[in-house]
Amino acid sequence: MRKLIAGNWKMNGQRADGTALAKTLAERARGSEAPDVDWLVCPPFTLLHLVAEQLSGSPVKLGAQDCHFEEKGAHTGDVAPGMLDDLCCSHVIVGHSERRQDHKESDELVQAKAEAARAHGITPILCIGETQEERDAGKAMDVLTRQLEGSLPAAGEGELVVAYEPVWAIGTGRTATAEDVREAHAHVRAQLKKAYGDTAGAQVRILYGGSVKPANAGELMATENVDGALVGGASLKADDFWEIGKAAG
Ligand code: G3P
Repeated sequence: MRKLIAGNWKMNGQRADGTALAKTLAERARGSEAPDVDWLVCPPFTLLHLVAEQLSGSPVKLGAQDCHFEEKGAHTGDVAPGMLDDLCCSHVIVGHSERRQDHKESDELVQAKAEAARAHGITPILCIGETQEERDAGKAMDVLTRQLEGSLPAAGEGELVVAYEPVWAIGTGRTATAEDVREAHAHVRAQLKKAYGDTAGAQVRILYGGSVKPANAGELMATENVDGALVGGASLKADDFWEIGKAAG
């Protein structure tokens, strides 16, 4: 399965640096030296249109970092999936741990967002992951099971990507060990096959996220059931993000 290398810019970037970053990646991805991976960048809403212009004609796809589950209406500050479709977003991150924490997003809300995105042909990147406390309590796999059972969209309605992001590895510089990743991704794969059947469950790409850097990307991407990366901090540095893609290619 071709690996997906996705950059989650989070709440970073303004017009000048955001368009420059997108332009650099788009130019490199068009080149003959480009690794055999799928590229995706997820800028903040404020930059989607400008970044889309920079990516036009390149193999790099555009994603958003969240969406509402309704089509329109009295939801101040929110963005509907149809609006993302209007900007040619191919993917949208849903249920990122930072949103589950900051906005108290439930598994049920994440599921509604994923299904609303797929209704517009937008592939949700459904984020799951345990906290340090849950891991220390030996509950990590149980948490992943609960999150998947509560937030996976219905079978057969479109594309899906799942991102395993242990909360304790996000932005901390502490990357999960290859064994941690192998165990978690195997568990997620088993849950996906249980939910969607062996064939469809095997076709869902499972990304790893949590302090992915050029130095650790090779080992992580070589781990079984790791089908790419969801990269935070390192995606804001053109060279680092490119090196991660090369390590995965
Ligand atoms: O969504 C990806 C993000 O949570 C990982 O962040 O900075 O640890 O790569 P970072």
